[in-house]
Amino acid sequence: MPRRILLINGPNLNLLGTREPHIYGSTTLDDVVLQAKDHAKSMSAEVEAFQSNHEGAIVDRLHAARGAIDVVVINPGAFTHTSVAIRDALLGIEIPFVEVHISNVHSREPFRSKSYLSDKAEAVICGLGVFGYTAAIEFAARHVKIKNRAHL
Ligand code: DQA
Repeated sequence: MPRRILLINGPNLNLLGTREPHIYGSTTLDDVVLQAKDHAKSMSAEVEAFQSNHEGAIVDRLHAARGAIDVVVINPGAFTHTSVAIRDALLGIEIPFVEVHISNVHSREPFRSKSYLSDKAEAVICGLGVFGYTAAIEFAARHVKIKNRAHL
């Protein structure tokens, strides 16, 4: 059975490609998702993608992942720095996750250095640009130890 990876992007990441391109580059979210799916396929894994600007919608999508997803790759956008709800959802579903940021959050405003997720993540990637998603997908497909799989 292929590994099932859920790629979640939080608020404003739907604007990738046009949003502050000096920070986030010119690649669109559609391109990121296509590339993630292709890269996963080359490693016999599958990617489902979800983007929302709404915290509760992300919490609901995480709940629905239970039993259906092996690894979550998440760029929570600004919710990284504010959301106890997304932290609790990730802990509640007990699915290992990788946190991704396109920019180097530690070289920006001090409030971006605080993450509500990092201490619970399998890995944290930041500052690699959109290549960070490729790195995260590869890590999720090949290296993350997955839980609760009946056939393993
Ligand atoms: C981001 C960094 C966050 O601080 C910011 O709010 C984002 C994007 C990144 O990918 O670098 O929306 O998560």
